Amino acid sequence: TGVPMVASTLTVDPMEEVAAEFGDTPGFFQLYTPTDRDLAESLVRRAEAAGFKGIVVTLDTWVTGWRPRDLAASNFPQLRGHCLANYTSDPVFRARLAKAPEEDPGAAILEWVGVFGNPLTWADLPWLRSLTDLPLILKGLCHPEDVRRARDGGVDAVYCSNHGGRQANGGLPALDALPGVVEAADGLPVLFDSGVRTGADVVKALALGATAVGVGRPYAYGLAAGGEDGIVHVLRSLLAEADLLMAVDGYPTLADLRAEGALRRL
Ligand SMILES: Cc1cc2nc3c(=O)[nH]c(=O)nc-3n(C[C@H](O)[C@H](O)[C@H](O)COP(=O)(O)O)c2cc1C
Repeated sequence: TGVPMVASTLTVDPMEEVAAEFGDTPGFFQLYTPTDRDLAESLVRRAEAAGFKGIVVTLDTWVTGWRPRDLAASNFPQLRGHCLANYTSDPVFRARLAKAPEEDPGAAILEWVGVFGNPLTWADLPWLRSLTDLPLILKGLCHPEDVRRARDGGVDAVYCSNHGGRQANGGLPALDALPGVVEAADGLPVLFDSGVRTGADVVKALALGATAVGVGRPYAYGLAAGGEDGIVHVLRSLLAEADLLMAVDGYPTLADLRAEGALRRL
């Protein structure tokens, strides 16, 4: 579909195998910064070598939010050893283990629990920035002041998101935060997600100043309903609806849509 992908640190397959499937479509690596800085650096180096085009650092998930449905279903894939391939294939992670993860998966899972989340502060931003020359994108920013600090710290883009409400359910809608984020970003690209379900949602976010719009659950729903074809169908439907909506509303290009959105924000 030509739609770029942000691949998580938590994936079934190692990032090198994920990146090998990108073809001409750009892929970004989403980094959950571990407590071990050497491990963080190793993950970033691997992402660079694998051909990812940017590093997206998610800032809002040092611990998971209160997720009653996951709790009710005992759904925490990592604790069952799933989605840890980027760790178990990493030399720095493996060096922390007494036995290889293939020999003692339980110990590897426990090690992962201890190393997973490092709550970053602004003092860590120079270190983060120094890790890579790839575009650095901070995900989970909703407050204009945070956006200004990120911009001053040399990031290349900000990502306005409330994690699809998975961290603070019932909190501020990310779309409400978007105009303030765009203004504070002051020309820096702004990615956006959380709650996008239709092409109309995509167009609204673009008109509010988003540079690019992401979806989380919709493609997973497509996967559940129809496998790979289901994902393709969801993405094509979103693109077709957005395209048609722009046409019927009289916006030939994204630039026209953005210009009109900017005028209305004045
Ligand atoms: C099952 C699931 C797993 C997710 N895992 C990650 C993750 O590993 N890293 C991350 O940055 N965001 C993760 N997210 C959040 C998404 O990247 C995205 O911000 C969110 O789903 C967007 O909202 P939407 O689902 O309403 O489209 C996850 C979301 C879901 C539903």
